Amino acid sequence: MKLLLKFNLIFVVVFGVGMVLAWFLAHEFLREEAREQVLDQAKLMMQTTLSMRRYTATQIKPILEARNDLRKTFLPQVVPAYSATEVFNYLHEQYPDYSYKEATLNPTNLRDRAVDWEADIVNIFRNRPAQKEFVGERMTPTGVSLFFSRPIRITEPECLECHSVPGKAPASMVRQYGRDNGFGWRLNDVIGAQIISVPDSLPATIANRGARQLVFYLIVIALVTLGVLDGVLYLTVIRPVSRLSTMADEISRGNMEVEELPVRGKDEISVLAASFNRMHRSLGRAMEMLSRENPIDPIP
Ligand code: HEC
Repeated sequence: MKLLLKFNLIFVVVFGVGMVLAWFLAHEFLREEAREQVLDQAKLMMQTTLSMRRYTATQIKPILEARNDLRKTFLPQVVPAYSATEVFNYLHEQYPDYSYKEATLNPTNLRDRAVDWEADIVNIFRNRPAQKEFVGERMTPTGVSLFFSRPIRITEPECLECHSVPGKAPASMVRQYGRDNGFGWRLNDVIGAQIISVPDSLPATIANRGARQLVFYLIVIALVTLGVLDGVLYLTVIRPVSRLSTMADEISRGNMEVEELPVRGKDEISVLAASFNRMHRSLGRAMEMLSRENPIDPIP
């Protein structure tokens, strides 16, 4: 097998093994990164809902209340929780993987009722008052799902206007939502949790995309490296060695008229070429001396 072919095969095998290792290591690392990235995005979305709540409470509610519309028909647009959920629904159109819920144990609007696993999260926040957020994953029929959650705690007495007893709440609201749900909340109670869920397949997809890109770049780098190495190997080893072997071949057939090998630099091949040139000269002289004394036929 030719030296260049042998070298290329070794390179491909070594690089192939390295690439498989790189794929496994990078995949793990990229998956962690992608998970962080998805959770960061969920946190940002959570902050958006909190800002929306604040905007509704400080800017929208006073305007609508001043217009006194609420006596006749209750407008859910004055409710921070409502605006947060609605804004997220718009966001959901652009980011269909993410979903949001103000999961509440005893909700005013029944769409906010906490289901089993959500109720477990609310209870975790109830039992651990110091816990400010909770990140986890759970099995769903469509695969693993990640979630990021924060407690909803009643910290302002104004909330109790509408959530303590039906008698205190605007009559229009009670007419619309009934008197059975969303009451009996107390100050400082954790009544629910804001939960953003996202399927675990999203970070997996991001990680796969990253890993594929990495492997593509590695292959490009490997091909360029191999090309450069082949060139260098050809110029520094293969070409001088094949010149040497052609010359040796010619000499062995008795042709002493071959040209001397070029000697450049001080590497092993150049030293070998210089030695060979010297041997060729000495052999030439010896043959000359020999043939002067005793002419012989050239070796076939
Ligand atoms: C003017 C009455 C009113 C006030 C004040 C009010 N809420 Fe509500 N709240 C509602 C109504 C009505 C809903 C249901 C809105 C809907 O249709 O989604 C609701 C919904 C919620 C929800 C979603 C779960 C559920 O019950 O459906 C949370 C959480 C919530 N409110 C928390 C608060 C907090 C915290 C405060 C105080 C900062 C507050 N609310 C103040 C009327 C009010």
